[in-house]
Amino acid sequence: MQINAAVLRESGLGLPYATSRPLAVEQLHLDPPGPGEVLIQIKAAGLCHSDLSVINGNRPRPVPMALGHEAAGVVVEVGPDAGGSGPELSPGDHVVLVFVPSCGHCEPCSVGRPALCEPGAAANGAGTLLSGERRLSDAQGTPVNHHLGCSAFADHAVVSRRSVVKVDPDLPWTEAALFGCAVLTGVGAVFNTAQVPAGSSVAVIGLGGVGLSSLLGAVAAGARQVVAVDLSDEKLAFARELGATETVNAADAEAVQQIRDLTGGGVEYAFELAGSIPALQTAVDITRRGGTTVTAGLPHPDARLPLSPVLLVGEERTLKGSYIGTAVPLRDVPRYIALYRRGRLPVDRLLSGVLPLDRINEGFDELHAGRTVRQVVTL
Ligand SMILES: NC(=O)c1ccc[n+]([C@@H]2O[C@H](COP(=O)([O-])OP(=O)(O)OC[C@H]3O[C@@H](n4cnc5c(N)ncnc54)[C@H](O)[C@@H]3O)[C@@H](O)[C@H]2O)c1
Ligand SMILES: [Zn+2]
Ligand SMILES: [Zn+2]
Repeated sequence: MQINAAVLRESGLGLPYATSRPLAVEQLHLDPPGPGEVLIQIKAAGLCHSDLSVINGNRPRPVPMALGHEAAGVVVEVGPDAGGSGPELSPGDHVVLVFVPSCGHCEPCSVGRPALCEPGAAANGAGTLLSGERRLSDAQGTPVNHHLGCSAFADHAVVSRRSVVKVDPDLPWTEAALFGCAVLTGVGAVFNTAQVPAGSSVAVIGLGGVGLSSLLGAVAAGARQVVAVDLSDEKLAFARELGATETVNAADAEAVQQIRDLTGGGVEYAFELAGSIPALQTAVDITRRGGTTVTAGLPHPDARLPLSPVLLVGEERTLKGSYIGTAVPLRDVPRYIALYRRGRLPVDRLLSGVLPLDRINEGFDELHAGRTVRQVVTL
């Protein structure tokens, strides 16, 4: 079938994107779903910094690539034998897309860590679906790469059965989309990666869609103190509305000392969700003795953090990475949705606005400038 999709042909074009237009809405050919795959009509897709990092070259990926990985939609067609693993899927089912497919058989999958699925990571790196296939091609017949098994800035997508979680049909599409990346990553960093106990002191550094999801997670987990840190005073004010007990602007030369003073020598759990080395340095510097620093931001792969091993040893510190919130998606997406419905994770507050697909470059200008939390393309 013919679809419209936002395609990136070259990374690193100049700002503003409203002028350089790195994403072009192109008509592509989409093959029918193969074995274990499903055709999804995409209803909503969020703009995440990880898309922006592919556009600006911080996260190198093969081009041409149809971007978008945080989305929700409705099943249109189920490929042959796609019912065999996990819950049955039927046309009309509502699903959230998950940006790491999990094969169910590899070593990480078999020990309950599907976020680290090895065939899933290999397929994502190569720009294919979990099957190793590309189902997208352009008007010249050239294959187009999939983004994280999703390619969701499009009216339709073919994805692995292992890239979706079925959700209740009454969840609004714009909210549903956020559960696939921002919420799964941000809340999961708190609940799964760090396993923050009630009564803990927490800091969240970087208040985008992912960081504010961590903040909501820390509040839901019963943290006694939640310090929010960003470069934007507007984001800090918003974080207070969402439950931050204190806020500190990271641009302040005394920021680290201020946070250490506010928290009696640092927090037990510091979360870095900005994707920059200065933010990660701040997170390390404000973690107390015996505490844990969790990093989920994705700076350029060549970036390095200078770190003294003696700090880890002498203060019994832990530094942990968190990918896709250490998620078990089939378990966690329904759990986080249930908490949202109970008012414990007010994820709808993270929605900054909706855009049509042809305004997507302007949307990434807004995200780059730090003026938005989560914008969602509706289709
Ligand atoms: N680990 C994962 O599985 C995963 C999943 C999704 C996104 N990410 C990554 O998480 C990061 C955040 O994504 P997002 O979509 O929320 O981004 P965003 O652009 O919406 O938010 C980032 C925030 O960090 C702030 N910031 C930048 N530098 C800072 C500093 N030095 N100190 C404090 N704050 C600073 C910005 O002002 C902004 O508010 C990105 O690097 C993204 O690639 C990781
Ligand atoms: Zn994302
Ligand atoms: Zn696997």
